[in-house]
Amino acid sequence: MQKEIDVPIFDLVISFTNTLDLISPLLVNHHKQVSYIAYEISAEMGLSFEEQKNIMLAGALHDIGGITVQERIGALQFEAENPHLHAETGYSLFKASEPFAVIAGIIRYHHNWWEKGEDFVPLGSHIVHLADRVAISIEKEKDILSQVDDIVSIIEKQSGRMFMPSVVHAFKELARKEVFWFNATSQFIVQVLKEKVNPEYLKMDMEGLSIIAKIFSQIIDFRSPFTANHSSGVAATSEALARLLCFSTREQLMIKIAGLLHDVGKLAIPQEILEKAGPLTKEEFCRIKVHTYYTYRTLAPITELSDINRWCSFHHERLDGTGYPFRLKGDELPLGSRILAVADVFTAITEERPYRRGMTQSEALAVLNNMSKGNALDKRIVELLIENYGEINLARLQAQKEVCEDYRTLFAEHKDKEITFC
Ligand SMILES: [Fe+2]
Ligand SMILES: [Fe+2]
Ligand SMILES: [Fe+2]
Ligand SMILES: [Fe+2]
Repeated sequence: MQKEIDVPIFDLVISFTNTLDLISPLLVNHHKQVSYIAYEISAEMGLSFEEQKNIMLAGALHDIGGITVQERIGALQFEAENPHLHAETGYSLFKASEPFAVIAGIIRYHHNWWEKGEDFVPLGSHIVHLADRVAISIEKEKDILSQVDDIVSIIEKQSGRMFMPSVVHAFKELARKEVFWFNATSQFIVQVLKEKVNPEYLKMDMEGLSIIAKIFSQIIDFRSPFTANHSSGVAATSEALARLLCFSTREQLMIKIAGLLHDVGKLAIPQEILEKAGPLTKEEFCRIKVHTYYTYRTLAPITELSDINRWCSFHHERLDGTGYPFRLKGDELPLGSRILAVADVFTAITEERPYRRGMTQSEALAVLNNMSKGNALDKRIVELLIENYGEINLARLQAQKEVCEDYRTLFAEHKDKEITFC
């Protein structure tokens, strides 16, 4: 199974952070810029390809632990009051997964000052720190070359204090080249980054992808305590249904990944709407409808994931054509999408929310039966769920409980993020 699908991890990370940054114009390009600048510094310093790759990925993910937009925007100030919280959260999200353990260590200390003399801070953190401060010093509306002297002077003043002198030295060498600044501010930045790395090194198999999908699902869901374990419930339900439908082991893993990523487009939805304790207004519902479009666009650049993307992105489509946003119907909907649609409805109505109880078995079955009778959901899949209700519901509950524990551990210090259910 290891060799069956390779995933260009860098493309996935960039696409994911692009969607995350859609939420505020202040954040646009920030992760890509830091990734590029940090990469160039690491290459200038003659670090190994493995180190360059890790630093590039750490740059692309460095502020991901800022779960709220305010936290991420706050980290864009030059000397933010408490910049370490998002760095620590980012570290905690990624530390346990083998492909990201080193990257997690770099993210953790990306705001630590050199003058503190902390030997445990990796070189990559010092590089990302400087790259981050260079990126936020660039004024988007001004011509880039006219800003170079000022930016170099800001950075130079902090050599030996905020920044490691050898990193400042490498940056100053790079700063002499116009192309460095043009690349850092160009619309071709992703293309430039891709040209810099050997894609073979950045590929990943399905097992690895499922680990990343789980981390990403937490970044998606943990923005609000109301939905903190939603994607894990959808993933567990979809996987159980796929197993009962005799999907191969590989396909079961694929559908689990689709469940974990199905709401990735919610990263582009404002927090107030996600956090609303109660039914949405018509206008709010209109805004939330775009989330499956963004799920589709986030995954579309990764052609290796085209099946998973269809399964994910069509989860609000309905067999009778009444779903959204593609208005697909009948045979246009693959079996994987139909499973996701049932799993999403089932999870949404049975999971606990702070403002309402999850539905009982008989209430949930009534809703699902109605939807399958009206040909919105696939009858065969709904029947399978009804026949195996106990087993599937238990799998959902267990998966959601585990994620609740992860959430509590991660946000132990955030009082505003306290979870009040499950
Ligand atoms: Fe940061
Ligand atoms: Fe940053
Ligand atoms: Fe959704
Ligand atoms: Fe969902």
